[in-house]
Amino acid sequence: MVKIDIKSVYDSIKYFSGTQIIVAGWVRSCRGNGKFGFINLSDGTCFKTLQVVFTKDKLANFDEIEKLNTGSSITCKGRIVMTPENQQPFEMQADEITILNATDSDYPLQKKKHSLEFLREIAYLRPRTNLFNAVFRVRSKLAFILHEFFENKGFVHVHTPLLTSSDCEGGSELFRVTTQNIYDEEGKFDPEDELFGKKVYLSPTGQLEGEACAFAFGKIYTFGPSFRAENSNTTRHVNEFWHLEPEICFMNLEELMELEEEMMKFIITNIMKRCPDEMKFFNEFVDKGLFDRLNNVINNDFARLTYTDAIEILKKNNDKFDYPVEWGSDIQTEHERYLCEVVYKKPVFVTDYPKEIKAFYMKQNEDGKTVRACDLLFPGIGEVTGGSERETDYEKLRKHMENLKLKEEDYWWYLNLRRFGSVQHSGFGLGFERILMYVTGVSNIRDVILFPRTPNNCEY
Ligand code: 4AD
Ligand code: MG
Repeated sequence: MVKIDIKSVYDSIKYFSGTQIIVAGWVRSCRGNGKFGFINLSDGTCFKTLQVVFTKDKLANFDEIEKLNTGSSITCKGRIVMTPENQQPFEMQADEITILNATDSDYPLQKKKHSLEFLREIAYLRPRTNLFNAVFRVRSKLAFILHEFFENKGFVHVHTPLLTSSDCEGGSELFRVTTQNIYDEEGKFDPEDELFGKKVYLSPTGQLEGEACAFAFGKIYTFGPSFRAENSNTTRHVNEFWHLEPEICFMNLEELMELEEEMMKFIITNIMKRCPDEMKFFNEFVDKGLFDRLNNVINNDFARLTYTDAIEILKKNNDKFDYPVEWGSDIQTEHERYLCEVVYKKPVFVTDYPKEIKAFYMKQNEDGKTVRACDLLFPGIGEVTGGSERETDYEKLRKHMENLKLKEEDYWWYLNLRRFGSVQHSGFGLGFERILMYVTGVSNIRDVILFPRTPNNCEY
């Protein structure tokens, strides 16, 4: 007899009702009274557990089973019986239970409720809890839904390298990658000693290589880890995050924002449909306003305003901020949240930022001061995507890079794209963990990524 997934039993209960099957998994809880007992069994195939009923008259090892701790692994052979009068629609009446590996009282995940901080310390076990099981299944489904969205639209998925020799975001803090102690006794660096013959970093974005591919396929996206070496200890920053970056030719900024809005509505609609148990759990136990918030995104047009207009609004409320703003200042999380939580009460695109506070590759506006950038801000989170129309003019781009002291030798190929069939193109980067926070209601980014990499934390 082969093992059956608990998910299959739920999906095809009519078929399994009355039949004897084998299931295998981990004990969530076990209680008995000397004559009979109940096990809540999870095999990870779905959010729901299977209730296994066991009796002394059927099990020779009843006494051992009754004492099973949470986390023990077992297999159960038994009959599926409908129980319409009970909380569970059906249960398994066990004929045989085999213990594979019993936990003892050292097992850290006992029945009581644990704090998120404690669970972060045992990140290798936390996927077994209800909350993290739901988070990581939604993470898996959300990635799939994103792939589906771009596949449906005919995008090509390209895999850009994680090792790079250029600082693509111009100014972001990068991790050096080296095979050796590359500084000599005087602290000098000899590129000859390096495996790549030059300084190499973990890439903060796949955009530049993505642009090269966009000029071949018309529309592409990359999806993978990006690295930022910044020392930010916030609830929204990790040093390694997952980054989805589409790049589309013959597209302007307005069309880019339409694409982003459509993408957000698609993924939220579909995650609610496809993970109903997990989403219900988040709505009940993590954030009681979650469904309202998500429906608010699906059913409303996102707001759009320029940076200059945003600053006008914010300036009038400078007394409310730790960092008062004026034209030219960076918009920080507190300002982003004010705009979408207090002013608009929905997602907001802010466009046309001053060129000084944005990356070198963004298309310059006629005014000479601003660039065709758009950041998408979400209530409760702040920035979830950053994007722009790209500068396509060789000379403008070269000059701007020169002003920023970016070395042409590091970007020669990127500049060449502007000579070899350059076309209007735009793209954005979605922080996958940020959108996961929004979709699950989980408020710390460390709790939506398996093993978070943050300052002073690289366990596992
Ligand atoms: O705004 P960013 O830095 O833009 C880029 O990297 C562009 N190359 C994207 C593009 O146009 N292709 O990053 C994009 C998004 C941010 O909006 C944010 O959601 C996320 O990536 N992000 C982070 N998420 C978690 N932790 C960090 N340290 C992040 N830094 C950026
Ligand atoms: Mg940004």
